[in-house]
This record gives sequence, structure tokens and C-alpha cells, in this order.
Amino acid sequence: MVDLRVLSDGDWELWRELRLAALAEAPYAFGSTLADWQDAGPDKWRDRLRIPGARDLVAFLGDEPVGMASGVPAGVDAIEIISVWVSPAGRGKGVGDALVGAIAHWAAGTDAQMVRLSVRADNAAAVRLYERAGFVHIGPNPDDPAEIVMERSLSGAR
Ligand SMILES: CC(C)(COP(=O)(O)OP(=O)(O)OC[C@H]1O[C@@H](n2cnc3c(N)ncnc32)[C@H](O)[C@@H]1OP(=O)(O)O)[C@@H](O)C(=O)NCCC(=O)NCCS
Repeated sequence: MVDLRVLSDGDWELWRELRLAALAEAPYAFGSTLADWQDAGPDKWRDRLRIPGARDLVAFLGDEPVGMASGVPAGVDAIEIISVWVSPAGRGKGVGDALVGAIAHWAAGTDAQMVRLSVRADNAAAVRLYERAGFVHIGPNPDDPAEIVMERSLSGAR
């Protein structure tokens, strides 16, 4: 059973613990690097959790934090999903499905028309996760051709 917690900036130490673990364990999956964040002070972590209009989630299995994901406003009509990670011990148990589903559900209650994300084309587990959640392939990311952009319309979700 996956429990999801919505974070505020006061939870920055929990977010830091998971985010540094994610950047160390799966550097191929993220635009940021461990070097960008490992010496960051409290204010930088708090600011990350204060992005206006964003939603930051941590997933727990029992008492153990095992995953994270965020939805952040992108342009006028979209929410972008970023920072998706599930610890190796938590994988294959529906934690990723729960995180992505919860961000999409939350996004449907905002003014956004779609949820969007970028994922490396060779990250098969992540691409399958997003396809299961109803995301469709849009095309290469113009900023990084190794990534594909995927989208899910929210018009039927309200
Ligand atoms: C991609 C990632 C988030 C997936 O997380 P996850 O929690 O394992 O995802 P899920 O459990 O929802 O799904 C994983 C698999 O378990 C299966 N599964 C889901 N619920 C299950 C359950 N209750 N019992 C057994 N298997 C289950 C899914 O069908 C899926 O199978 P598949 O990969 O063969 O299609 C995780 O592998 C990860 O953090 N990778 C590194 C970081 C990364 O790539 N992030 C994405 C950046 S865009």
C-alpha cells in the first residue's frame, strides 16, 4: 500500500534525502546532476519546494520514503512532471504509477489543459510507466534530442 505525502518547504530535509539519492542512483534520468545539488544549503532546497503553483509528492511504503515526483506549471496551459524517482527497493510495486497518477489527478483540478514530461528515449521503464498512465509520444525534445516529450490531455479528466 503506497501512501503519498504532499510536501511544503518545511519538508526540505526529506526532499533533499530522496533527491540526492535519486541523482546518485539514476544520473542518466535527470537534467540536474548530483554536483549541482550535493552542497546546496537549506535556502536552495526550500526554494525548490516553493515553486508557485507546484505540487511536490513523496511516496511511502510503511514508514519508508521510497519515491518522489513533482508537477510544476509550464507555460500557460500545462503542468510538467519532473523529478520522478522510485528507490530500487521500492520498484515494481506500483509506486511510480501512484505518483504519476496523483500528479495527473491534481493537475486536472488546476487550469492546465495537459500534463507534459520529457524522458530519455532509452529509459524503457519510465516510458512504460508514462504510457500506462495515458501519456502519448509527441516527439523529440528540441532542447535535448535524446529525450522524447510525452503528453496527456486533461480535458477528459475533469
Ligand atoms: C521509472 C521508475 C520511476 C518506475 O518506478 P516503479 O515504482 O518501479 O514503477 P511501477 O511499480 O509503477 O511500475 C514498474 C513495473 O512494476 C509493475 N507493477 C506495478 N505495480 C505492481 C504491483 N503491485 N506488483 C507487481 N508489479 C507491479 C509495472 O507493471 C511495471 O512493469 P514494467 O516496468 O515491466 O512495465 C523507476 O524505475 C525509477 O525511479 N527509475 C530511475 C529514475 C527514472 O528513470 N525516473 C524517470 C525520469 S523521466
